Amino acid sequence: MLRTHTCGELNEKFVGKDVELCGWVGSRRDHGNIIFIDLRDGYGLTQVVFNPQFQAEMHKIAEELRPEFVVRVEGKVALRPAGTENRKLKTGLIEIHAEKAAILNKAITPPFEINENVSVTEETRLKYRYLDLRRTSMQNNIRLRHKVCKLTRDYFDERNFVEVETPILTKSTPEGARDYLVPSRVNHGMFYALPQSPQLFKQILMVSSFDRYFQIAKCFRDEDLRADRQPEFTQFDIEMSFVTEEDIYELSEGLMKKIFKGAIGYDLKTPFPRLKYAESMARYGCDKPDTRFGLELSEITDIVKNCQFKIFQDVIKKGGKIIAINAKACGAYSRGQVDELVEFVKEYGAKGLANFKVERGALASQIDKFFSKEELTAIKDKLAGEDGDMIFIVADKEKVAYEAMAALRKFLGKKLNLIDEKRFDFLWVTDFPLFKYNDEEKRWESEHHPFTSAHPGDLSLLESGKSLERVRSRSYDLVINGTEIGSGSIRIHERKMQELIFKTIGISDEQARLRFGFLLDAFKFGAPPHGGVAFGLDRLMTFFVGCESIRDVIAFPKTQKAFCPMTNAPSEVDKKQLDELGIKIKKADI
Ligand code: AMO
Repeated sequence: MLRTHTCGELNEKFVGKDVELCGWVGSRRDHGNIIFIDLRDGYGLTQVVFNPQFQAEMHKIAEELRPEFVVRVEGKVALRPAGTENRKLKTGLIEIHAEKAAILNKAITPPFEINENVSVTEETRLKYRYLDLRRTSMQNNIRLRHKVCKLTRDYFDERNFVEVETPILTKSTPEGARDYLVPSRVNHGMFYALPQSPQLFKQILMVSSFDRYFQIAKCFRDEDLRADRQPEFTQFDIEMSFVTEEDIYELSEGLMKKIFKGAIGYDLKTPFPRLKYAESMARYGCDKPDTRFGLELSEITDIVKNCQFKIFQDVIKKGGKIIAINAKACGAYSRGQVDELVEFVKEYGAKGLANFKVERGALASQIDKFFSKEELTAIKDKLAGEDGDMIFIVADKEKVAYEAMAALRKFLGKKLNLIDEKRFDFLWVTDFPLFKYNDEEKRWESEHHPFTSAHPGDLSLLESGKSLERVRSRSYDLVINGTEIGSGSIRIHERKMQELIFKTIGISDEQARLRFGFLLDAFKFGAPPHGGVAFGLDRLMTFFVGCESIRDVIAFPKTQKAFCPMTNAPSEVDKKQLDELGIKIKKADI
């Protein structure tokens, strides 16, 4: 090695020792005769002092040093003079008195200073990701990610799980996003799909008697990107045979306990609470509620079904819902503040937001004349309204009303400072519906994926083909502070049931054979009962490092437009390559 130590490990115990360090020049401070540099590597920062008193030649070399030059320094560890210590830094009590130094490589001026206060756009950070990754926080994030993967691998290894790699060039998988396709050179007109998850392969591994599978798996989905979505992301992917939901919950809780403790020293309490989907929707308006604060929703459709307010009446007649929330202590909101909330819910498709103040034990509003005294009292009581509160109400189609109110609840939770940012609230959401209705295509589709078992209590409903919205599934999601972190289910292992599900969601025998024939074939040879789950590593990491975007915990992420500013991918390819693949690009597309 060209060094004896890293730039993050020397402290007062090393005083008097001769050491050799390598790293990048951070800041350089020229105090006339004496020059100080911060020497930085992936482990930390050490102050180096170039003083002609220690070594006559030193000053000349130090004068040449510029930010991001790569240097090697030999010298003695010394205590910093009293009053110049930096107690925030691990190496802040010492400095190196340089006796020999060499420039190993020069660097051009970087587009931004490598420190924690980067003021450049994210696009620039991603273009020069190799520089951005030199920053301490990014070093910490990526190193912590490694640690979390290691803890996870150890956890599964200790429990006899086998990590099996599944193909990247494969067939379309059923997670519901668009596929990334890869054209085949040797079979013109044929395409591989990059896996949206290893779902089908992990089920096949169960047929192969690998009854405990796990993988740190790359998944690829061509979907609209957000802060918590990337086109390629990583899952802790798990499947087991001969299990029930309880086995999956216990295993997953143990994993979470281990990685939260190992990564950030946080002790999680298990078992995690559980909430059925229907109750989650009724209380929070969504299937991934942030349970760190109250402000629960209440449906008041029944209470106002005979009121004189035309907007509510019209919605009720069309089968819509009237959903209310009590914004505690917001009764004194100004017109402007209320208007801000009205505009907010409109972004979620709601047409408006009615409001009622609670004053002297009763509800008061511009529209209160359309309601009887009994109706107003019943609304107040249902929402536990107290003087000084403000009750907001949305009337709309069920989906819109819940979506808008769930968003409003989150918004108010933040605005009213109700969220304890130090808490991690875990929640299993269970008993999801098996199907959802696709309004555009006028057909039923799987809520999770088509290999999810139906709830044993709802089999006759499923077989009857009626009230399909009421058929529950054996699937579960793990939610932390309102973010879906994982998802899984007990699978169908009987061919007959699988065929019924395909039929129900309009996948013909022929389509099923084309898309999943290999799985159905495998199931003919003795598929064990099985189930599994997958956790989003990138999303988990945001909880460990406390950042908003998963881009900060991925070494080389893509922008919101699925673009990599560093490599410029995706990019055009040579005509020769296209010819080999038998692909012609339409002129209008270029
Ligand atoms: P699902 O599609 O719910 O389930 O994905 C599991 C978890 O993966 C994470 N995730 C993502 N993270 C970042 N960017 C994305 N685009 C993205 N999409 C999903 C989420 C999510 O909870 N095969 C099933 C699992 C199973 O049934 O075993 C599956 O992939 O944290």
